[in-house]
Amino acid sequence: MLGNSQQVAYSRGQWSSRITFIFAATGSAVGLGNIWKFPYTAAENGGSSFILIYLICIFLIGLPVLCCEILLGRHGKRNTVNIFYRFHRDYATPLGWRIIGWIGIASGIMILSFYSVIAGWVGAYIFKSAAGAFDNMTAEAVNNIWGALLSNPEQLLIWHTAFMVLTAATLARGVRDGIERVVRYFMPLLLILLIGLVIYNALTWDMQSTLKFMFSFEPDKITPYVILEALGMAFFSLSIGMGAMMIYGSYLPGSKPILGTTAAIVVADITVALLAGLAIFPLLFSFDLNPDEGGAGLIFKTLPLAIGQMPGGHLFGSLFFFLLLVAAWTSALSLLEPFAAWCVEHRSWNRSGAAIATSAGVWLLGLLTVFSFNEWKDITLFDKTAFGLLDYVSSNIMLPIGGVLIVLFAAWVLPASIMRDEIGLRNKKWQKVWQFVIRYLCPAAIIMILFNLLTTS
Ligand code: TRP
Repeated sequence: MLGNSQQVAYSRGQWSSRITFIFAATGSAVGLGNIWKFPYTAAENGGSSFILIYLICIFLIGLPVLCCEILLGRHGKRNTVNIFYRFHRDYATPLGWRIIGWIGIASGIMILSFYSVIAGWVGAYIFKSAAGAFDNMTAEAVNNIWGALLSNPEQLLIWHTAFMVLTAATLARGVRDGIERVVRYFMPLLLILLIGLVIYNALTWDMQSTLKFMFSFEPDKITPYVILEALGMAFFSLSIGMGAMMIYGSYLPGSKPILGTTAAIVVADITVALLAGLAIFPLLFSFDLNPDEGGAGLIFKTLPLAIGQMPGGHLFGSLFFFLLLVAAWTSALSLLEPFAAWCVEHRSWNRSGAAIATSAGVWLLGLLTVFSFNEWKDITLFDKTAFGLLDYVSSNIMLPIGGVLIVLFAAWVLPASIMRDEIGLRNKKWQKVWQFVIRYLCPAAIIMILFNLLTTS
């Protein structure tokens, strides 16, 4: 239990400015979710209908949840569990709400366990690309390279380990040092490369089918499953529902309204996801690959086809995968920061110990994913491998549950004046609209989507 004096045993850091926070939060949001997960999840779920629901979920649900997370964090200035002790002390809110922190820590661990393995694939592809492994390859040959990597658990394990060591080392130094510089220079570069790829593809491959696949209106393809997948994708790509943005918000100085900040993060996030779609789908159609067969390997089966043909492809390809790895790294930090911060602030561990212990736990759980693609690929539950289950349960179920609890807490339990001050809407009418969205619309939408799936599957 926390006493009032417990909080001062350590000194809590801050981002150096609001801009640093925006960079860090964008670094968290933009990652493998946008470039690896979004394209294949969209492809598996029918393309345009999924994308439409995804965008609706982002604005209707994602943006409000993101706002609530940041404002809770900034107001409470504690890790994602202890913050609820503080709210309890200051506003007599029930302590049970700290379950939000615990569900979040659990989902962060689960997500990072597979995220790290996927980041490892990206690492391996930096070198393959640089070595010219994809030069003028057929789709089949590219597929074989991919298959060879997956069926080699040692390779996957080495990369997974390397990525977790990198994560642990950075976490140990504290995410507040250095993250800004990394994001400030590397993210814009990633964006430029992505745009370059889209232009190259538009000139070379089948952009028309891509536009139709991504943006035509096909209401008959919308099913409860597609809606849940789109909701999960919205949560995953924005890094919400587990406290990552809450802990980042807790390092945010000042008291400027946060709505604008939130909007900037959202725009960056969907821009990267949509560009990734535009960069990857043309290859699918031009090489006659079946959209829903790519699975989790989609970008690794398609991007090398472009890389292998374009002038300067070695360099472009390795740079692209390198930047993607950097993006994954800045996201990974936010997945483990809530747990690490709890170890430091609640258990009084030192930062290095906390970083090493939490990363080691995640590494161990990651073995499930490593073997999901080879030795254990036939062991399934509900038709999903261990990796599939970890992903499905954390992204589509735990994050939305975390999200709904966060919004409910911020909208109904905390004094209304806090929300008003932090959001910074001056206009009375907009305040009413906002209230309606966070009190009713957003929680009701999440609950309905979750419930709908339970009753229809
Ligand atoms: N948003 C990141 C991505 O798109 C992944 C991520 C980082 C995340 N932190 C998170 C997902 C917190 C859910 C919750 O790659």
